[in-house]
Parts: sequence; C-alpha cells; structure tokens
Amino acid sequence: MTILVTGGAGFIGSNFVLDWLAQSDEKVVTLDALTYAGNLENLASLQGDARHLFVQGDICDRALVDRLLAEQRPRALIHFAAESHVDRSISGPGAFMRTNIEGTYTLLEAARGYWGTLDADAKAAFRFHHVSTDEVYGSLQAEDPPFAETNAYEPNSPYSASKAASDHLVRAWHHTYGLPVVTTNCSNNYGPFHFPEKLIPLMIVNALAGKPLPVYGDGQQIRDWLYVSDHASAIRAVLAGGRLGETYNIGGWNEMANIDIVNTVCALLDEFRPDPAGPYARLISYVKDRPGHDRRYAIDARKIERELGWRPAETFASGIRKTVQWYLANPEWVARVQSGAYRDWVSKQYGN
Ligand code: NAD
Ligand code: DAU
Repeated sequence: MTILVTGGAGFIGSNFVLDWLAQSDEKVVTLDALTYAGNLENLASLQGDARHLFVQGDICDRALVDRLLAEQRPRALIHFAAESHVDRSISGPGAFMRTNIEGTYTLLEAARGYWGTLDADAKAAFRFHHVSTDEVYGSLQAEDPPFAETNAYEPNSPYSASKAASDHLVRAWHHTYGLPVVTTNCSNNYGPFHFPEKLIPLMIVNALAGKPLPVYGDGQQIRDWLYVSDHASAIRAVLAGGRLGETYNIGGWNEMANIDIVNTVCALLDEFRPDPAGPYARLISYVKDRPGHDRRYAIDARKIERELGWRPAETFASGIRKTVQWYLANPEWVARVQSGAYRDWVSKQYGN
C-alpha cells in the first residue's frame, strides 16, 4: 500500500512524512515542487529508505500527476502543497491563486480520473485528504465562540481566500462526482523545520542573531497554536476514520496573543542560551501592522475528539520548549535556510 503526499518537503508535510514512516511501513511518495518553502533536507533522514520516493514536480502539472497516480497506485492522496505565507500573499497573490486553486483543481481532476479506474473495493477505500486552514473562517471578536465546522467562510487575505476556494472545490468534487474526500482545517502549527518567515521560527532565529523581533501592530492578535506532530496525528486519525465529505477542525485549545508568544520564546532563550547583552525581550520592536490583519482565530476541536477520539498530545509549554531546543540543536539547518544554501541540497546530495 502507498500514500501520495503533496508538499511533503515543506514544514508540516515533512513532519507528517517523518511521523508516518516512524509509525508504519506503508510507502510514501512525496510530490513537491521545491519552491522557496520546500527543503529536501527536512527529509534527509529518509535517504536510502526504500519506503520513501521523492518526486520533484508541480501539482499543476496534470500529466505528471496522472502518471504518478497510474504508476504508484496510492490508496490515499494527502494534499499539503500550497503557498502558505499570508504576508507573501499580500505582496504577490498570483502564486497563491495558481498553486492553491489551480493546483488543487488539477489534483482533484487527476484523482477523479484515477479513482474511476479502481475496482469497487479500492474505490471505496480511496481518500483525497485536503489539508486546509482555520483562516477560511475569517476573524473573531474577543467574545465570539471559537470556529466550528458550521461557521460561514469569511476569508480576509489572498492566502485564506485561495484556501477557501480550494476547500469549495474539494467539497464540490465530492458532492458532484462522489470523490471520497475529507478536509481538515487546522490552526497555527509550530515545531521543527518551520521556515523562519513565520512568527515563532523568525523570533528564534532573529533573537539568536541579535536582530530586532518585529511584532506587527499592537501584538494583541490571537492565534491558536498546535505542535506540528499533533497535526500529523490528527490527519492520520481523519484519514483512518473520518466520514466522507466531512470537514474536521483541528486545534490545540491554546489561544495566545502574539506578544505573549514572543515573550515566551525570549524567556526560553534566556534559559537555554543566555545573552551577555541582556534578556532577549530587549530586541522586541513594534512595527507597522499587516494589512487586513485578522484579530483572532480560535478552534472548536470537539468534533474530531467526539468522532475520532483525537486530542493534542502536547501542551504549548511542552511543545514550545521542544521547538526552541530543536532550533538550538540545528544551527546548520538554520544557517543553510538563511543563506539560501538549502536550495542546493538536491544537487549536492544527488548530483543533477
Ligand atoms: P510550507 O509553505 O512550509 O510548505 C509548502 C510546500 O508545498 C513546500 O514544500 C513547497 O515546495 C510545496 N509547493 C508549493 N507549491 C507547489 C506546487 N505548485 N507544486 C508542488 N509543491 C508545491 O507550508 P506548511 O506550513 O507546511 O503548510 C502545509 C499545508 O498546511 C498548506 O496547505 C497550508 O495551507 C496548511 N496549513 C498550514 C498551517 C500552518 O500553521 N503552517 C496551518 C493550517 C493549515
Ligand atoms: O491559522 C493557520 C495559518 O497560520 C496557516 O494557514 C498559515 O499557512 C500560517 O502561515 C499561519 O498564518 P499566520 O498569518 O497566523 O502566521 P504567521 O506566523 O505569519 O503570523 C502569526 C501572527 O504573528 C500573525 O498575527 C502575524 C504576526 N506576526 C508575524 C510575523 C511573521 C508578527 O507580529 N510579526 C512577524 O514578523
């Protein structure tokens, strides 16, 4: 048996692939275009592992996806590949429309074609698992209840609008063609291999370099934070037992204001790697706010717990300690990401 994972060289995808192969011998085929966010070094521990096949390619390439499905005959496709950074979607939305909407459409059509060729048992067992975000629900006021699966979609950024569009396509392919889909909408992840353009890894690497820690606006925006391996376990639970055509919200029951996140990171660095120049929080610098910045996200994750028995294993206190320790233990990974050398990884490791 085989699963096909798109975006498996990115932050969450690589954690998912590593977790999957740590728990199972089922083969994983990773399809990833290796954009700036894709880093094959994240999967370096799988080099030479016959259970893993890496294919560099674009999810918008229908011929490639058709060929992969026909050759590899996966029982499930888990779709992580996306442009994922809100700030980049504001400065350049085009790539988000292409990968997140057109790419998801291409995968759905290719999966529909492949699924139609399967025998009855394989057809019933096949899954298209779409990995999405809580940002599709828009922004909450302080007193609002957390996002439930029944909330209306109100995306506010080009990124979240493109993800909302992809969620709608996935829903329609189930409703119209019967494609066996499940969708998960998750809150902010953090953990190993997180690209340092996102809040937590950016704060860690900037602090260690003695650079300013840029906090947008008043720093009081709230996010729900989930350790990345808990996202992986939630996806495994939904893949195994989620009801077809359903969506499941995934969250950490951990709402925190950005400034509290930054102070927590600083305090951990003070503990693990004290700076003779003084506490890291001295580097905090309030900067211009993100345009259209969503004020608050929060997740009601009771459905996945009720139906599938899933709850996060990590608390924020345990997950953030592991995360800061991971960055301190992996300065070469950080240096190669910062210098851009990670992009040479493929040619260095594998020749041309
Ligand atoms: P990421 O940006 O770290 O990784 C994205 C991966 O997709 C990269 O490896 C990149 O090379 C690949 N990719 C991009 N365009 C591609 C294309 N056209 N064809 C093939 N591969 C392509 O993203 P992430 O943070 O790991 O997020 C993964 C998924 O989870 C995304 O769909 C995102 O919307 C969703 N999500 C992320 C979070 C979060 O906190 N990061 C939370 C909820 C949901
Ligand atoms: O909610 C899930 C989403 O979480 C995912 O769908 C996205 O792919 C992922 O990037 C993330 O989006 P956010 O915009 O919430 O994450 P980011 O790390 O960019 O920012 C987190 C918060 O921190 C947000 O309120 C903006 C703020 N921020 C971010 C950066 C990069 C700062 O204050 N300073 C910064 O330098």
